[in-house]
Amino acid sequence: MSATYPALRLRRTRSAAWSRRLHGETVLTPADLIWPLFIAEGEGIEEPIASLPGVSRWSVDGIVARAKEARDAGIPCIALFPNTPHALRSADGAEALNPDNLMCRAIRALKDSVPEVGVLTDVALDPYTSHGHDGLVDDTGYVMNDATADVLIGQALNQAEAGADIIAPSDMMDGRVGLIREALEESGHVNVQIMAYAAKYASGFYGPFRDAVGSRGLLKGDKRTYQMDPANAEEALREVALDLAEGADSVMVKPGLPYLDIILRVKNAFEVPVFAYQVSGEYAMLEASVAAGAGERDALVLETLMAFKRAGCSGVLTYHALHAARLLGA
Ligand code: PBG
Repeated sequence: MSATYPALRLRRTRSAAWSRRLHGETVLTPADLIWPLFIAEGEGIEEPIASLPGVSRWSVDGIVARAKEARDAGIPCIALFPNTPHALRSADGAEALNPDNLMCRAIRALKDSVPEVGVLTDVALDPYTSHGHDGLVDDTGYVMNDATADVLIGQALNQAEAGADIIAPSDMMDGRVGLIREALEESGHVNVQIMAYAAKYASGFYGPFRDAVGSRGLLKGDKRTYQMDPANAEEALREVALDLAEGADSVMVKPGLPYLDIILRVKNAFEVPVFAYQVSGEYAMLEASVAAGAGERDALVLETLMAFKRAGCSGVLTYHALHAARLLGA
């Protein structure tokens, strides 16, 4: 029989700071963070994003400067998203395949000047298409799976050639992880990782991101024929199983906080590295509550990030990464 009150007082181990530290079950460090950054065309450019207060798009020189800040704060990896100039967007998203596109120029600049920071790149066509979808659209408006996957292979190889360390397909097409893995192996990029956006939901929390990459105004319809229904959890496990079978090195659940149950289930079922994306709308919600005086930023940021670690995450993509890393100390 285990002890009961008063022999057992759970407040006993909480009674002093040293003891709380000693009994902490979960650790959050800057090494758990991936910092998403938005790239703008030009030089010396900073473009604040109204719906993401405190987050800006930076031209490539600014991205390099941010990567140095990340390194100095102990953040191991950054994630890149381009705001492709609208004149370069097309129905087929061909700019995604251009070896000199904004994304590739940023990757090369980063690998030239801050090679010790990992670079994660998003594979999906939405920053490049004139209709804002992640793939190729047929006459009825349906996003075609296999035709899109063929383009995504080219996009992934283009990013790998430029020096990307982790390829992160966020498009939710069936079969693309296996196809990309095969192409990476055949082209000699055997150590380029794949972090699959495995369980990505058709979420209302992506709005500010779409402002940041300039696709919100362009998007026709919604993404429910490829992203997951928020009602579903079993299906998330099937998505993860499939991506792992196809060769994903790690999997992601997205959005983050509203889907902690999915993170826990994935971790328990597969025992593989799981990452969460605390998405733009979550960031905006937290910042709005700080602005309204409802909460205190530092505490909210650290508590939410700790929640991901507690649920089983290896790491978290978060727009608060630099702030959090500095709070935590390198
Ligand atoms: C693009 C992509 C999206 C996000 C990451 N990659 C948006 C979408 O699927 O519409 C969202 C990230 C965020 O909201 O912070 N495929």
